[in-house]
Amino acid sequence: MSRITELLATMTLEEKIGQLVMVSLGAETIVTGPRAAEEPTVEDVRSGRVGSVLNLVGRDRIHALQRVAVEESRLKIPLLFGLDVVHGYFTNAPVPLGETAAFRPDLWEKTARLAAEEACDDGIHLTFAPMLDCARDPRWGRIVEGPGEDPTVGRAFAAAKVRGFQGADPASPWSLAATAKHFAAYGACTAGRDYASVEISERTLHEVYLPAFEAAVKAGCLAIMPAFVDIAGRPMSGDHGFLTDLVRGRWGFEGIYVSDYDAVGELVAHGVAADMVEAAAIALKAGMDLDMESRAYPDGLKPALERGLISIDLIDETVARVLRVKERLGLFEAPFGRGDPARPAASTRAERRAVVREAAAASAVLLTNRGRVLPLAPEGGPIALIGPFVDDTAQMIGPWSGLGDQDEIVTLTAGFAAAFPGREVRVAEGCAADHAEDDAGAACDAMLIAEAEALATTCDVVVLALGEPSELSGEAASRARPGLTGRQAELAARILALGKPCVVVMTCGRPLIETELLKKADATLVVWYPGSEGGRAVADLVAGAVSPSGSLPVSWPLDVGQIPVFFGERPSGRPFVLGEHFTTQYLDVPNTPLFPFGHGLSYADFGLEAPRPSSPAFRAGEGVVVTTRVTNRGARAGATTVFLFSRDVVASTARPLLELKRFETIELAAGETRDLAFTLTAADFVLLGPDLEPRLEPGRFDLSVGFSADRASLKTVSVELLAEPAVA
Ligand code: GLC
Repeated sequence: MSRITELLATMTLEEKIGQLVMVSLGAETIVTGPRAAEEPTVEDVRSGRVGSVLNLVGRDRIHALQRVAVEESRLKIPLLFGLDVVHGYFTNAPVPLGETAAFRPDLWEKTARLAAEEACDDGIHLTFAPMLDCARDPRWGRIVEGPGEDPTVGRAFAAAKVRGFQGADPASPWSLAATAKHFAAYGACTAGRDYASVEISERTLHEVYLPAFEAAVKAGCLAIMPAFVDIAGRPMSGDHGFLTDLVRGRWGFEGIYVSDYDAVGELVAHGVAADMVEAAAIALKAGMDLDMESRAYPDGLKPALERGLISIDLIDETVARVLRVKERLGLFEAPFGRGDPARPAASTRAERRAVVREAAAASAVLLTNRGRVLPLAPEGGPIALIGPFVDDTAQMIGPWSGLGDQDEIVTLTAGFAAAFPGREVRVAEGCAADHAEDDAGAACDAMLIAEAEALATTCDVVVLALGEPSELSGEAASRARPGLTGRQAELAARILALGKPCVVVMTCGRPLIETELLKKADATLVVWYPGSEGGRAVADLVAGAVSPSGSLPVSWPLDVGQIPVFFGERPSGRPFVLGEHFTTQYLDVPNTPLFPFGHGLSYADFGLEAPRPSSPAFRAGEGVVVTTRVTNRGARAGATTVFLFSRDVVASTARPLLELKRFETIELAAGETRDLAFTLTAADFVLLGPDLEPRLEPGRFDLSVGFSADRASLKTVSVELLAEPAVA
């Protein structure tokens, strides 16, 4: 008889329900030492009423509570410890949207692996990451946590992060169970307002928002977190069709669902459950395994059983899934395996910092560089470094940074001082990061702006460090007008009016709509929230030690009124034609974003030749290889990303103007030329027919290569997908 069968046969109903309960614990709850304090929660663990914990950090504290579970409880079932290890535990990589801009799956995997090592070393078993919500609305603060606007990128990001977090063997003491979140389409919340209902077509759901999650399942993620939202009135935390029929039934997901915080209880607020008992029953029947903090399961499952809303078999089946994940993680054999002092992490702290420094540099996107004002020369007159974030450590690591604030963070000021030993760097705050609360604050801002202006006049070049305060990014951080905060725009205008060469370094978690500023500044470098080594990485780029290579993972709107603006839209029956009034357009702003998906400049100078197909016509089973030639015509080495798009010209349903099929980052020395070959298989030509079932439709496909989704700059070749020969 298996361990799980044996346990189920002996568990009381309270112990079974306990395995479905995840509670949030802070350090104040658990006193380390020979015996944890007699706290209600500790007693809950001892009595088997809690089976998983989130937010407890510190190896000693985690092990102290685990000791209560495996030595003092009746059945000795180990606890599962979870935390949001999203882009680092101590050592932070750039925020996910920023890291996506590197378009480097190898790097995405590497930073996840290093985060897993730090988290496992501290006793953590599971992370609530990767966040895989594609997003096309920068009013939504959580766009910072995900992989941008495109599902092909989302799929690659999902697979890389699951591999990185979990490694090859979930039972390894260095494996951190990955949670694909937030399932699904959370990024499509109405008007970019966090938690708001989602209203999208089933086609868009399947073509844009589900692929990354399917990729995470195929990569073997051990957990999925359903989103807070409802899709067309179906709350994700209580929907059997999505959680069980689709993800478990069709995709073969064998892990567990971890609810979002309080989300099971929120089925009452959604209006699909009359009370917590019904909420518990609906969620359990949908397939939800762990109830995070809502108390619906601990308070509602027993009454639900008594009311006949659920069966004990369903409870057993759910408990078995949770125990199976604990078993797969090796927790029964090694409840203290994560954080075993006898097994140091494979990487050193110095190696982890070198990797996040590389990631920060690779994630930065050079939007403009008029007159090649960047890189700044190593010698010359003083540099003015001005802005509210120049010494702000939180601004470097951004939201969801784990314990990053307890680690050394390199600020912009420190980075610039180190990068320009031969030049004086003069620093001024310029203004507060956010709006002044009172007259005193306003007066202080006025003084700071004047001081910054005066300092700038004494310098040869100005670097304006501007952006969005990190506390305005992430969860519950929707902004109707995502732009600079406080008096930063006024500061920028005053500095620009001096006529000095001016470089903007933008720290943000989303595209900030500041079109005038971006047009007036001589150069703009978007560094996102760059992570623990942010100051050094940004200075490396400004000083030219590293050439920018990032590409935008989201379209950058010219105006908030364009939102959502993205490259994958369908043509409509009246595609925009310049000068033709009755075609799809605005009267007051252009349709195109200020910068398209994929945009990003370099200190090198890349050229691309038209794509060459291995055959102009092919059958699906043969596939096609598309080759293009990339040249670095510049005087410096550099890296860039080449994108391959397709357009299904005529199909049974209207197809997007561009569909991203492949991307690859390539590094070239000055003057170097290299061919890139992309192999497309039948799967790349499959579409969802009118019935939303996958199908292949022969016909013409336009295949385009480019450095961005700017259609005017793409190089295109048409190929023919031939019908399969008739079976004799
Ligand atoms: C939060 C977030 C989720 C996170 C969870 C635990 O509300 O929605 O992304 O993993 O709670 O912190």
